[in-house]
Amino acid sequence: MRSFPLNAWYAVAWRYEIPKGEVIGRTVCDQKVALWRRSDGAAVALEDACWHRMMPLSHGRTDGESLVCRYHGLAFDATGRCVRMPSQEKLNPKACVRSYPVAEKHRLIWVWPGDTAAADPARVPDWHWAEDPEWEGDGDTLFLKCDYRLVIDNLMDLTHETFVHATSIGHSAIAHTPAKTTHDDKSVTVERWMPDIDAPPFWRKQLGKPGNVDRWQIIRFEPPCTINLDVGVALVGTGALHGNRSQGVNNRVLNTITPSTANTCMYFWSLVRNHHLGDAALTLRLKQANARIFEEDRAVLEAQQQAISARPDQPLQNLNIDAGSLWARRLIDGLITADSGRRP
Ligand code: FES
Ligand SMILES: [Fe+2]
Repeated sequence: MRSFPLNAWYAVAWRYEIPKGEVIGRTVCDQKVALWRRSDGAAVALEDACWHRMMPLSHGRTDGESLVCRYHGLAFDATGRCVRMPSQEKLNPKACVRSYPVAEKHRLIWVWPGDTAAADPARVPDWHWAEDPEWEGDGDTLFLKCDYRLVIDNLMDLTHETFVHATSIGHSAIAHTPAKTTHDDKSVTVERWMPDIDAPPFWRKQLGKPGNVDRWQIIRFEPPCTINLDVGVALVGTGALHGNRSQGVNNRVLNTITPSTANTCMYFWSLVRNHHLGDAALTLRLKQANARIFEEDRAVLEAQQQAISARPDQPLQNLNIDAGSLWARRLIDGLITADSGRRP
């Protein structure tokens, strides 16, 4: 059975990665796509194999409204239809490649690899903080050699911060404070509040004040692969536990993980904050700090995948801390089942 649903929007690139005139190749759900822009700027995703001899079209060039194959010059328009065959006058009407539904939203380009008729732009995952003027920040992409669901497990259980990220955001209170997990048929939420603790370095620097803090981590999963974290600290006893965060600092860590193949994925993330807006140097520092933290995750996730691949029949075990990821995987499985037309 496939490990990912096809009927979903998946992030494939940052908007800036495809300026007009450029073509890039990406793999989403075992399907290779060539991404480019038409002359009006609209992003296009075509199957990345020429109809003629399967040359990857991502090696080609754009020519106004079409993408031209590098090998013998066949040109395909945004619908995937061949509109030019340089060495013959009569076009073969069968000459076409698949064109995928594309959405451009929240600084990302999203592709729908499933049934075209079902691609509703309103279903693009919520990443609105990436463009909200009240939030500011930046992010990047990790190309990981692991099943995308291992990243979801990782983000749904932040007790790993205590051990994997001990020098930056880790704190023993995370592992010792139980989290509350809730879910409905469209989301899973894991919430943890740690009152009156010492702030770890990453947070102390952002807060810029001494004294103990109340710390929160609210994780929200939207299937199949988007997880947004609401994280922050506020000076102890100033009301954050009751909704007043005015004496604190708040980040949103936006994450969406696109399966490329069964054992590789693209992990798009952005770290945004609602304080010190306009401070470009701080944006860069936070981005670099977060990128370093995520490299620690990469080491764990890729090592874990190698061990799993070596013994694929060995079942993974669950602890209390895995409640969020278990519900997340259940919602993913529901979407995979729904793909086949069966009731989840
Ligand atoms: S392989 Fe593309 S034109 Fe021949
Ligand atoms: Fe991590």
